[in-house]
Amino acid sequence: MTWCSIDGTLRPLSAAAVSISDRGWSLADGCFETIRVHAGRALWLDAHLARLRQGLATLAIPAPPTLATLSAELRRLCDRLELRDGLARVQISRGVQAQRGLAWHAPTPTSVITAAAAAPWPSAPAVRLALVAQSTRRNEWSPLSRCKCMASYPDQLLALDEARRAGADDALIRNTAGELACTCVGNLWLVLDGVLVTPPVAAGAVPGVVRQHILAHAAAWGLAAQVARLTLEQLARASEVFSTNVGYGVAQLQLITAERSPAPVSMRVLQALRATADADPTSD
Ligand SMILES: Cc1ncc(COP(=O)(O)O)c(C=O)c1O
Repeated sequence: MTWCSIDGTLRPLSAAAVSISDRGWSLADGCFETIRVHAGRALWLDAHLARLRQGLATLAIPAPPTLATLSAELRRLCDRLELRDGLARVQISRGVQAQRGLAWHAPTPTSVITAAAAAPWPSAPAVRLALVAQSTRRNEWSPLSRCKCMASYPDQLLALDEARRAGADDALIRNTAGELACTCVGNLWLVLDGVLVTPPVAAGAVPGVVRQHILAHAAAWGLAAQVARLTLEQLARASEVFSTNVGYGVAQLQLITAERSPAPVSMRVLQALRATADADPTSD
């Protein structure tokens, strides 16, 4: 049986429910964290907790009591699921409020924790095709761009959809000034003259937990890393482009353009084959 934790109580997933009057559902009014479970324990939990508390403070959502016991809570859930390597998701919304409208009346925050098995980080970075998104921009003026809040993700989905339609796996997203900000679900890094460079949070980057770890430890690994604003010109001359998050660790990005998708003919043939198989699996 699969389990989750709602407001501090373990429940079978099949019996778990959140109200349709919850503002997480109706207004994307909340924050979340995706946390790597490594050898049965939550990796870098303090950094996740700090970012979550910061995000909740930005949205003026009071931290629920479950945050004080999150470490034990996650451990209980992982033990119940017998999870060694995986990803946990902690989701906090402002809570249930039946009245219509944006204003809130001190609802009690809802907290949900789910977790599932996921492969450990690979020994070599996965290679992903990526394009520079044209469909949307990241709003570096919004305080929400500095949090992992539910409301920012539909924009990331637009960029991902654009990438997928061009045969790519990921997108580089620019901010309103045209500077590079991030990828769909990760921090962006360029290797420029041997130095790892990642955009500042002020340019619309999420303060990623992996990003923070790299910036703190790169020197000890014999690497130079810095935070600086990044342009398309720098992207064109970068010797490597990669992205980081706790889910995949490091993914190497190979740039394509929407006009020159990597293999338009083979992609067309594959799409036609898939459509044929879907339409009538028995015919040849
Ligand atoms: C837009 C964005 N940037 C960066 C990250 C990386 O954050 P972390 O390293 O904490 O996984 C994520 C993770 O989901 C993200 O969605």
